[in-house]
Amino acid sequence: MAVTLTYFGHATFGVDADGTKLLIDPFLAPNSPVAPADVTADSVEADVIILTHGHADHMADAIPVAKRTGCLVICNFEIGDWLMGQGIENVHQMHIGGGYNFDFGRVKLTIAHHGSGLPDGSYGGNPSGILIHFNDGTDVYFAGDTALTYDMRLIGDVGGVDLAALPIGDNFTMGPDDAILAAQFVKAKKVIPHHYNTFPPIEQDVEAFAQKLQDETDIECAILNPGDTLTV
Ligand code: NI
Ligand code: MN
Repeated sequence: MAVTLTYFGHATFGVDADGTKLLIDPFLAPNSPVAPADVTADSVEADVIILTHGHADHMADAIPVAKRTGCLVICNFEIGDWLMGQGIENVHQMHIGGGYNFDFGRVKLTIAHHGSGLPDGSYGGNPSGILIHFNDGTDVYFAGDTALTYDMRLIGDVGGVDLAALPIGDNFTMGPDDAILAAQFVKAKKVIPHHYNTFPPIEQDVEAFAQKLQDETDIECAILNPGDTLTV
């Protein structure tokens, strides 16, 4: 068994978990300026969508993909209600601090400090991160859009993660220096930086981030370009 991640740009990841296809925060071409052009809402594979929050750069393609595939959508309670109001029926609602065992592994929503308003202005509850304990034992943390929070230490205290996908863009989320602290708080073995260079306010030098992470910690940095795949 293995967990394979594909980066679709910005904060969107595909995960192949022993054949189950997860899609995290779908923001695909042509909506996303950085997503690979050949992966769209009409073509991306998904058995499960997981959403961190309601902002359009994390769920612009959730409804079309869910409608086309009939996939399960895992999200917070408020976004779930909103999706069901848009005709999406296969929804599993959760909330921060709660975990649930799915066929592919255990999902827990974690604290994120950010907003979660939905594209039409509806209330989207609180934002979250996603912690997944896959069936093969691999632990992956998708921080979502968040500030650095001391609560991230709790993830490290209970054993840490094999991989942490951390935003480094600054301005809307934590920036590179805080992401280095976050990587240490969650005791990540490896970090994928994301949520940078999509728009002008979040431009970052990702090579400098990787160098600083290497200089200051024992944590590996995996820089993925949109379309790149990594086996955890
Ligand atoms: Ni956001
Ligand atoms: Mn965002």
